[in-house]
Amino acid sequence: MKVLVIGGGGREHAVCLALSRSPRVDALLCAPGNGGIARVARCFPQVKATDVDAIVRLARDERVDFVVVTPDDPLALGCVDRLEAEGIPAFGPTQQAAQMESSKIFSKRLMQKYGIPTARCEVFTDCDAALAYLDGQQAPIVVKADGLALGKGVVVAQTLDEARDAVRAMMLDGRFGASGARVLIEECMTGREVTVLCFCDGHTIRPMPASQDHKRAYDGDQGPNTGGMGAIAPSPLYTPEIAARVEREILRPTLAAMNAEGIPFKGVLYVGLMLTPEGPKVVEYNARFGDPETQALLPLLDSDLMAIFQAVRDGQLAQADIRWRDESAACVVLASGGYPGKYASGKEISGLDAAEALGATVYHAGTREQDGRYYTAGGRVLGVTAVAPTLRQALQDAYAAAERISFDGMMMRRDIGARDI
Ligand code: AMP
Ligand code: GLY
Repeated sequence: MKVLVIGGGGREHAVCLALSRSPRVDALLCAPGNGGIARVARCFPQVKATDVDAIVRLARDERVDFVVVTPDDPLALGCVDRLEAEGIPAFGPTQQAAQMESSKIFSKRLMQKYGIPTARCEVFTDCDAALAYLDGQQAPIVVKADGLALGKGVVVAQTLDEARDAVRAMMLDGRFGASGARVLIEECMTGREVTVLCFCDGHTIRPMPASQDHKRAYDGDQGPNTGGMGAIAPSPLYTPEIAARVEREILRPTLAAMNAEGIPFKGVLYVGLMLTPEGPKVVEYNARFGDPETQALLPLLDSDLMAIFQAVRDGQLAQADIRWRDESAACVVLASGGYPGKYASGKEISGLDAAEALGATVYHAGTREQDGRYYTAGGRVLGVTAVAPTLRQALQDAYAAAERISFDGMMMRRDIGARDI
């Protein structure tokens, strides 16, 4: 089969690497791709992941047999619907189903209607009403923009003044454009966070091993929220008891809720959980693989990812062979100095071969290849993943490999997974 993957981050590199090992895949294409993906797939840097017309044209011109859509933007723009309408099989949720991520209000209402445990919440379309509501509340409290905001549309306010500033920034200053026209004000939950990615074909939901992201920029969970600075899998916090409860109270009810709404979910459902004192609750849903969770999970997959994608697309997930290695994986993200704020690009990267010689896998996120050399081209630049029999060993190996890599201004967290070993 000729397969096209949409996206160009570390997550897409992990997906492409797994697909390149599938006996079903003869030719692999990626749009836009990046410097590392170019080693396993033919890349189309001029085709942006947000340009659905260009993606459909590319799929048609190249006569691809299957398209894998992983980033949030094209999913929210209806990329899968458009491809399927053209007769091109595609992996990923429809535009309607992708509202699980693209509208926090949609997913919140779904959880409220079907009794799925989550933080209490009020929705506001009017700034004055939101500010008046805050007067009767207590801090800490959470303010969220409704739409996609690159993970930056959430403020966990420690004071009511901070919450008021967040409401004004979203609703009056338009800091998140249309995404901030509606805001949610949520109860602040406490507890550790775990990510559960699930393959889902509309009838069957099959969770992958749980993972843990590290969202804050600096050690000790300090600093601004980022796309994710590192991940471990499986999560030691996610005991079989918790897994059984989540499956019963959250995963199966979510699948049933989507079906009851007439919006079956096909693709990867990302369930962000908080393990609160009252039990597991949903922090958020996403409609796709997580980044960098995927870079820790897919190296543990012992089955053919392409066969799983096809089974999801065809509604045959119950029969799919999905096995996971009984090992641990750790992914450490190397970012450009200044990320998630302003950062420089075009810095030459050294030590990639030395890191891989240690047995680690180096996933490229923001890189560009030129004449056999690699240069930084984004905030998150690389993700270094190691797999080992224990989490402790995986972390040691991932850090040993990461230490071999350098570029001007390189930044990494030194405490990925440290709380859990
Ligand atoms: P989200 O984009 O919804 O995942 O939010 C980003 C981060 O904000 C989450 O990973 C949590 O750490 C935090 N967060 C979001 N909602 C809540 C909440 N209701 N209570 C506590 N923390 C939250
Ligand atoms: N790692 C968080 C996300 O993919 O949304």
